[in-house]
Amino acid sequence: MFTTKALQEEIIRLKKENDICILAHAYQSQDIWEVADYVGDSYGLSLEAAKAGQTSVLMCGVRFMAETVKILSPDKKVLLSHPQAGCPMAEQMDVETVNQLKESYPGYTVAAYINTTAELKTACDVCVTSSSAVKIIRGLENKDILFIPDCNLGAWTASQVPEKNIKLVEGGCPVHAGIQPETVESMRRLYPEAELLVHPECLPQVASQADYVGSTTGIMDYAKNSGARAFLIGTENSIVQHLQFACPDKQFYALSKDCTCNNMRLTTLMDVYHCVKGDGGEEVRLPADVMEKARRCIDAMLQMERG
Ligand code: 13P
Ligand code: SF4
Repeated sequence: MFTTKALQEEIIRLKKENDICILAHAYQSQDIWEVADYVGDSYGLSLEAAKAGQTSVLMCGVRFMAETVKILSPDKKVLLSHPQAGCPMAEQMDVETVNQLKESYPGYTVAAYINTTAELKTACDVCVTSSSAVKIIRGLENKDILFIPDCNLGAWTASQVPEKNIKLVEGGCPVHAGIQPETVESMRRLYPEAELLVHPECLPQVASQADYVGSTTGIMDYAKNSGARAFLIGTENSIVQHLQFACPDKQFYALSKDCTCNNMRLTTLMDVYHCVKGDGGEEVRLPADVMEKARRCIDAMLQMERG
């Protein structure tokens, strides 16, 4: 039987022996963070994916993140940490629907949240992440933008870039969109001194009450640097624990007990062990034409973000 520490040591030994880079999304558990080469939000992960020097990459997160790694590193072996870890938002829209929307909105630039399938990205012009959306949308030449599939991130972005004409469609993250404005009001009454930090996937009636709206990494950075001592966290509840480890002198409270992503929670440290050992996870394989077309959409974001 392994202890957590012994298992982590074995994972670190095996990842070096087998030349594997472990990337972990911020929503992964603390024990997985501790064995990862890089932990971050979707935007940071896409940058690291392109940079990793190892021959293999293990993506601890959900399927669209592993697909993004494969698209940016087509010659590497890319593993998804748990074959069933999907993102319900990424699966909400198919290419046919996007093509129909494009017919209804001719001349619009199609901006896709990175939380979409590789196949869907082939029909879109540019990707955005929660941390890059405002800069990317502001920098687009076209005034008319069709934003898919998260109407909440889209609405928040539109509020920051009023000069653009942004068309939103119905869709979003069931986990974040489940946080109700009434919950915010009652938590504010309970912890009046706390700052409210939320992810832009939350409803506009929630985001509009926040002291800070940003990506998972953005929320963590804000909390670390803020002079406040207490915070209400409106994103996946794993971030509450990560912040408690990072800032033991501050208080962090989950805005809603129900803000749990079951897909992100699927991967365990034992899954990571099996992946680096060679008998776990799922190797991501995508058709060459899908990778090529989806890459244009991701590269457009990376170029604009750098430029
Ligand atoms: P980030 O862009 O903050 O990584 O968010 C991704 C995500 O899936 C949020 O639910
Ligand atoms: Fe997808 Fe929401 Fe889970 Fe993020 S929290 S992976 S958007 S279902």
